[in-house]
Amino acid sequence: MTTTIPNDGPIVALVTGANRGLGRRFAAELVARGAKVYAAARRPETVDVDGAMPIQLDITDPESVARAATTASDVNVLINNAGVSTRAGLLTGEPSDIRLEMETHYFGTLAVTRAFAPVIEANGGGAILNVLSVLSWLHTAGSGAYSAAKAAGWAMTDAVREELAPRGIHVAALHVAYMDTDMASFVPADQKTDPAVVAKQALDGLLAGQPEILADERTRAVKQRLSQS
Ligand SMILES: NC(=O)c1ccc[n+]([C@@H]2O[C@H](COP(=O)([O-])OP(=O)(O)OC[C@H]3O[C@@H](n4cnc5c(N)ncnc54)[C@H](OP(=O)(O)O)[C@@H]3O)[C@@H](O)[C@H]2O)c1
Repeated sequence: MTTTIPNDGPIVALVTGANRGLGRRFAAELVARGAKVYAAARRPETVDVDGAMPIQLDITDPESVARAATTASDVNVLINNAGVSTRAGLLTGEPSDIRLEMETHYFGTLAVTRAFAPVIEANGGGAILNVLSVLSWLHTAGSGAYSAAKAAGWAMTDAVREELAPRGIHVAALHVAYMDTDMASFVPADQKTDPAVVAKQALDGLLAGQPEILADERTRAVKQRLSQS
């Protein structure tokens, strides 16, 4: 499959949660590839990516989302990266944490997608990447709230891909296991991948038109087991 982003065309990207972690690496990698980059963050003053333009965006705040889509009106690539991990269990966790996971990974990501799809379409088409997880498919008690929200994100990604394909917008998912970011600070170093490497790999896959980018061995093994169960 070929992408709807011309290989030699200018990329104008917006990355959510670009002030740290994987989002910061996405923004830096896009700048390195010559793209114009909006580095979106709840607190834009915390963005530290040379060559990127900070922009305010809280993906759970409808006014903030609408404002960003108006300001960044030349975007043709959207990276839905922002996420939270409360580590709440579904029966014992705080209901507010369970809601936050869904508000962020599902409703927030969907709100940004709905706001930017017409923008990308008006700019001649492009691509959207949703950052998901191996936990979209691996549903353990200890990460119940997060897994349920990422599983919802997986279903959303597939449905929106079908909806946006006729409008010239390619939609992909990145599934990945532990990366070396604040979110996985409790995980031993030898079990984490470098988010800079994951960002490169994900952009290569997105711009090549892949529907799913599986970033590591663990993620590929878990996905493969789905078809055996
Ligand atoms: N790290 C892992 O092991 C791992 C594994 C699989 C998937 N992922 C996924 O990878 C993505 C990036 O995570 P990360 O590892 O880079 O985590 P991180 O270092 O904790 O960064 C999370 C980012 O999301 C932002 N964010 C959270 N809620 C937001 C909101 N409502 N509006 C806008 N921005 C918001 C944070 O902004 P603030 O600075 O304002 O909090 C921060 O920039 C997430 O979708 C995560 O679920 C991570």
